[in-house]
Amino acid sequence: MQTIFSGIQPSGTLTLGNYLGAIRQFVELQDEYQCYFCIVDEHAITVPQDRLELRKNIRSLAALYLASGLDPKKATLFIQSEVPAHTQLGWMLQSISYVGELERMTQYKDKSTGKEAVSSALLTYPALMAADILLYQANLVPVGDDQKQHMELTRDLAQRFNNRFNDIFTIPEIRIPEVGARIMSLQEPTKKMSKSDENQRGFISMLDEPKQIEKKIKSAVTDSEGIVKYDKENKPGVSNLLTIYSSCTGESIEELEKKYEGKGYGDFKQGVADAVVNLLEPIQERYKALIDSPELDTILDEGADRASAIANKTVAKAKKAMGLGRVKK
Ligand code: TYM
Repeated sequence: MQTIFSGIQPSGTLTLGNYLGAIRQFVELQDEYQCYFCIVDEHAITVPQDRLELRKNIRSLAALYLASGLDPKKATLFIQSEVPAHTQLGWMLQSISYVGELERMTQYKDKSTGKEAVSSALLTYPALMAADILLYQANLVPVGDDQKQHMELTRDLAQRFNNRFNDIFTIPEIRIPEVGARIMSLQEPTKKMSKSDENQRGFISMLDEPKQIEKKIKSAVTDSEGIVKYDKENKPGVSNLLTIYSSCTGESIEELEKKYEGKGYGDFKQGVADAVVNLLEPIQERYKALIDSPELDTILDEGADRASAIANKTVAKAKKAMGLGRVKK
């Protein structure tokens, strides 16, 4: 059976973008692959975090993974910082990463431009991400479109390590969904929908109340044409709403264009809002039952144990290949 690894940062409540671009794929794939899904809290601290908020977000993310349909009997769900092998291999991979290639990462540029104090961890972040994936010898990594560049670097680092030391790592492939790989901001539809957006109306949180969802979608930026048609260049707002609608209901974009032919944006936006609410409401119900349950802790404890067993073996191999430590007699 092939292996899958993916991770999400607990840096705020997940957005509809995270769900459509990432989590939904995870749920679909868990039957066919050996899956590891991680709450990458060590990635989250590459920018300043409030201690209590971070802890809350970690638990919330675990509950959202499960509420979305991840089955702990099929997939291993765990917290990155509870498996020390991640930072161990992350360090080793930093030693073969070049500052130049790390500086070229757009996520680094976006998050560092204009900031006075930028942590060095923000720069070396992709080496830790590569470690996450390579520890489990993942064949496939399901992510949204924005992670393409990090995935390329992961493949480069794996190849570089294998060539320089020993053939240890599986070279992973990226998996991006056909629809929903890049959900855009509702307020600035040329920008990615992001949980760290300061404008709350720009994103839909997976835990937003139905009323809030409706309000945000009704105030989404469109255009003055009044025609429901997919045209990413000239109608980014409407195109984004069509993508969201299609991803939520499974109806194709062409079907939706037909359905709203001759109708205005008011009807269309109501349709989008209903589709999102119908998708998120059952997840929110399950979330409420899980968030304070002791079951959640048991699942995370077992997940960390299972993940550690595999990850420690890879670290031992990588150390040996690099000449770290001693050879045990
Ligand atoms: P993060 O936490 O920013 O996002 C988690 C996942 O959600 C996807 N995503 C989106 N998809 C569609 N539309 C959007 N607007 C949108 N916003 C986010 C992301 O592509 C991602 O799949 N570096 C990663 C976390 C990470 C990771 C890993 C991922 C760390 N280690 C190992 C895979 C494998 C990140 O910052 O994702």
